[in-house]
Amino acid sequence: MSILEIRGLHKSYGATQVLAGIDLSVEKGEFVGVIGLSGSGKSTLLRCVNRLVEPTGGAIYLPRATFAPAADGAKIDVAKLGRADMRLYRRRVGMIFQHYNIVKRLTVIENVLSGALGYQSSVKSCLRFFSRDERRQALVNLKRVGLLPHAYKRADQLSGGEQQRVAIARTLMQSPALILADEPVSSLDPKLSRVVLDILKRVCREDGITALVSLHTLDLTREYADRVVGLKEGRVFFDGPVKQLTDAVVEDIYQRK
Ligand SMILES: Nc1ncnc2c1ncn2[C@@H]1O[C@H](COP(=O)(O)OP(=O)(O)OP(=O)(O)O)[C@@H](O)[C@H]1O
Ligand SMILES: [Mg+2]
Repeated sequence: MSILEIRGLHKSYGATQVLAGIDLSVEKGEFVGVIGLSGSGKSTLLRCVNRLVEPTGGAIYLPRATFAPAADGAKIDVAKLGRADMRLYRRRVGMIFQHYNIVKRLTVIENVLSGALGYQSSVKSCLRFFSRDERRQALVNLKRVGLLPHAYKRADQLSGGEQQRVAIARTLMQSPALILADEPVSSLDPKLSRVVLDILKRVCREDGITALVSLHTLDLTREYADRVVGLKEGRVFFDGPVKQLTDAVVEDIYQRK
């Protein structure tokens, strides 16, 4: 069963249709690059998946077992989750943003620990709110992103690329099944972008995490994505392995009406 199955997803803001019927199935462990012109609906699509944005139509299915350990094999529409299930679901879905969304005045490890609360919770800014196990796990995750020596620095002493690595470590605290990364490296130069994407891809591979990643350059998309989804005017215009993303296809994706 796919880990994510999107069927006829629509989103409108008033009279403006942003997603015009998205169909997409994603398999466990895939690293999917999402591309398209500005305004094509990349962020909206990612945000619908974890319901930061409410879809106006369609369905987003996940195997119930993804977030409810004792569940049978049934799949469930994310839109129909009750409050308690929604909390469990959000815990298994990590979100990474362009501007890192880390709390600058806190230490690096405090930021990582906040991931143990789920990224939506308010940050309890004191280490003693966390168990010894959680603190150990935070250090493990910082090591995985290469930032262990920076654990007790204030987050704003870190470079942009390092701050995004903190965000990755924070997300790992949720043991996510799925990571949604919306332009995670758009604020970084190409070299730092590759450092961050190397880490993101490695941890996803190691942990069997599925990733939907919108990327702002074709070079990076070709280098990192296993599969590419090209959006155009709110629809899936291209969906295939990266080697099928020919120059002609790219031209079509980025051609305005
Ligand atoms: N809250 C909102 N209210 C009204 N319109 C919105 C809202 N959020 C997004 N839109 C519109 O939806 C369309 C798609 O936006 P979205 O942010 O998903 O595009 P995108 O592909 O992520 O673009 P970019 O590459 O610039 O990030 C845009 O035309 C945008 O103006
Ligand atoms: Mg966007």
